[in-house]
Amino acid sequence: EMEGKCPFGGDRIGGAIGTPPALSDWYPDRLKVEMLHQNGPQANPLGDDFDYAAAFDRIDLAALKQEIKTFLTSSVAWWPSDYGNYGPQMIRMAWHAAGTYRIADGRGGAGEALQRFAPISSWWDNGNTDKSRRLIWPIKQKYGSALSWGDLMVLTGNCALEIMGFPTYGFAGGRHDAWEADSATYWGPEVWDPTKVQSPDSMVNRDKRWHGQNGDADYDLENPLAATHQALIYVNPEGPYANGDPLGSARDIRIAFTRMAMNDEETVALIAGGHAFGKSHGMVPADQIGAPPEIAPIEAMGLGWHNPVGTGSGEFTMTNGIEGSWTPDPTQWDNSYLENLFKFEWEQTKSPAGASQWTPIDPSAPRTPDAHVQGKMNPLMMMTSDIALKLDPDYRAVCEKFLGDFDAFTQAFSKAWYKLTHRDMGPRERYLGPERTLENDLLWQDPIPPLDHDPVGDADIAVLKQAIMATGLSVSDLVFTAFSAAATYRNSDKRGGANGARLALAPQKDWVVNQRTVPVVAALRGVMADFNAAQGGSARVSLADLIVLGGCAAVEQAAADAGVDVTVPFTPGRRDTTQDLTDIEMFTWLKPVVDGFRNYVDDQFETIARDVAPEELFLDKAQLLALTAPEWVALVGGLRAMGANYDNSAKGVFTDRVGVLTNDFFTVLTSMDYEWKKTDATGMTFSLDDRNTGQSRFQATRSDLIFGSNSQLRAVAEVYASGDGHTRFVKDFVKVWDKVMMLDRFDVRR
Ligand code: HEM
Repeated sequence: EMEGKCPFGGDRIGGAIGTPPALSDWYPDRLKVEMLHQNGPQANPLGDDFDYAAAFDRIDLAALKQEIKTFLTSSVAWWPSDYGNYGPQMIRMAWHAAGTYRIADGRGGAGEALQRFAPISSWWDNGNTDKSRRLIWPIKQKYGSALSWGDLMVLTGNCALEIMGFPTYGFAGGRHDAWEADSATYWGPEVWDPTKVQSPDSMVNRDKRWHGQNGDADYDLENPLAATHQALIYVNPEGPYANGDPLGSARDIRIAFTRMAMNDEETVALIAGGHAFGKSHGMVPADQIGAPPEIAPIEAMGLGWHNPVGTGSGEFTMTNGIEGSWTPDPTQWDNSYLENLFKFEWEQTKSPAGASQWTPIDPSAPRTPDAHVQGKMNPLMMMTSDIALKLDPDYRAVCEKFLGDFDAFTQAFSKAWYKLTHRDMGPRERYLGPERTLENDLLWQDPIPPLDHDPVGDADIAVLKQAIMATGLSVSDLVFTAFSAAATYRNSDKRGGANGARLALAPQKDWVVNQRTVPVVAALRGVMADFNAAQGGSARVSLADLIVLGGCAAVEQAAADAGVDVTVPFTPGRRDTTQDLTDIEMFTWLKPVVDGFRNYVDDQFETIARDVAPEELFLDKAQLLALTAPEWVALVGGLRAMGANYDNSAKGVFTDRVGVLTNDFFTVLTSMDYEWKKTDATGMTFSLDDRNTGQSRFQATRSDLIFGSNSQLRAVAEVYASGDGHTRFVKDFVKVWDKVMMLDRFDVRR
């Protein structure tokens, strides 16, 4: 009777694991708390305790570079090198790896080698970077875990520049690869059909990320984006909407490169410098090219963009659609890109693939050798985005400077390339290898001068804690101040944090959200002056250390007042930096629009935050602080109990014992004794009314109620609200407190 029947009880027709529709398809507005657990230790085959720095340090970097350089001037049949030199395509690979970085949230960049994973791997603009990575796989394979993809890609870019006569500024290793696709980063609102391989500009949906029209004064790009539309690294080479308009292109370039924290000089240096090398590939119409890697057939083994014409590579290569080289000698660093751009008039033409590009009008203009066909010479090529540098008056001024001073150009490109490829690595303590730079002269590194004293020891720490508490500063003020110093940290580009004591410098000291810290910092300066003046030996305390120590002392006090004895870990050795070493504009990007930890919402929120709820920006901040969901919940519960709101308000402070580390936040949050009512039209603030008496007991914001309304956060809140929850909560709070205080301490933890 059982014959012919599946023993597992039926057919398997559809419904593979994770197949949509799923949670967020049915409930797109749900808070995606699981984003906190992206790229977690479970995904890492090397294990959480693998010491990458130690492994990398054992590499002979000079020997590795020589191997890379030898490979670069070789050629393999499945993807022959242009001009017998893989250098140019490797520079583009490295630039596209780094070029996803955006200053607004610090996400993107070369740091995690996310070019290996979708969506980035399969963006139209990353066409054939899959071949570049596959070409260097034998080197990656040889060095294994000691050389991350992130480091190898940037290093290969550097080696490429060097073999073509360009002096690089330096190289630092230390990039830790991701092990899964990043689904947390917002890459823009557009949905497009990834099977359609033509330039996504033909789908005019790029407008969704823009305010105003190109040319209007208010024309701008939605934050935190930097690319001008989906699936491109920055701008369309053919101009906005592929319209061939160089001035429109210049506007887009300036917006996009500014979002990547590059000024006009750096922008020109990068584009003119990069396009001194290699060529663009456009021999085949885009509609003949196969699917990108993420959706290519399984036998393509992770390679995409299959080209069915000829050999599909070499002289038949199709990448972007534009065809040709910018210079007569595309494998040599020289100034001929700018020279020819300015010496000749250029007219718009079409590539074999049908893309619009520019050719010199003057028939006597130099020609450039074909990348594969011996003896064939081709006209020079410029993209609309190259012509932009000549027509935009400010870019033009930089070009003219570089035209007259090749050394200045070389130096500017060298420094800009170093910045581009190291921008997201954070403090120099993370830099590895003999070619890293350690001077203080690169402002984008947010320098903090080295320690000029011994850090305080245990006995001093005990004395200092007493001195701090003796000032009369409240637990609330001390906790608030230490947290405010640490909370600028973002794990995306590892900027910010308490080290350096930048809380006491512009711009941070002037932010509304930090106003409460100003008198606290002043009082702590007093403690510092007294202590240091009284020191006979070489130990001194820094303001940065004292700000954190104040918070630690306050948390200990608050826990003791709640009947739990804990020692809050404190690791001295933070240094103070100076205003001169602080780039005010670049730090202004760290200013929060919403900081739910301190119950702060910018008063311009309604106008500056489009389509995001405060709790979504709160989650974003928690993710940038590298918190797990339980850590996030514990941290907020403690901050509320200790009264750490930016304006000292009672919102979310669900306790009558402010400053005591109780679990009252959670017991009130989960209690059915209260009813929650909106107190404003937009649903930003709430009153908690006693169900029996109808009286208002507490006030709250969305950043409070989310911990009771979201099911995942509520599950954790229930743990801390439980009968056995208080001690666990205090312990967990202390742990996450220390984690946050230590996030930027790459001087003691690599
Ligand atoms: C190639 C666009 C900036 C380095 C290309 C290609 C395009 C392009 C369309 C041809 C891809 C292909 O078909 O193979 C742009 C645009 C830029 C920009 C629109 C910004 C406005 C940069 C920067 C660098 C760079 C900043 C490096 C510092 C290169 C190199 C190639 C290249 C080396 C040659 C690749 C090869 O020979 O295979 N670029 N690029 N580009 N780009 Fe850029």
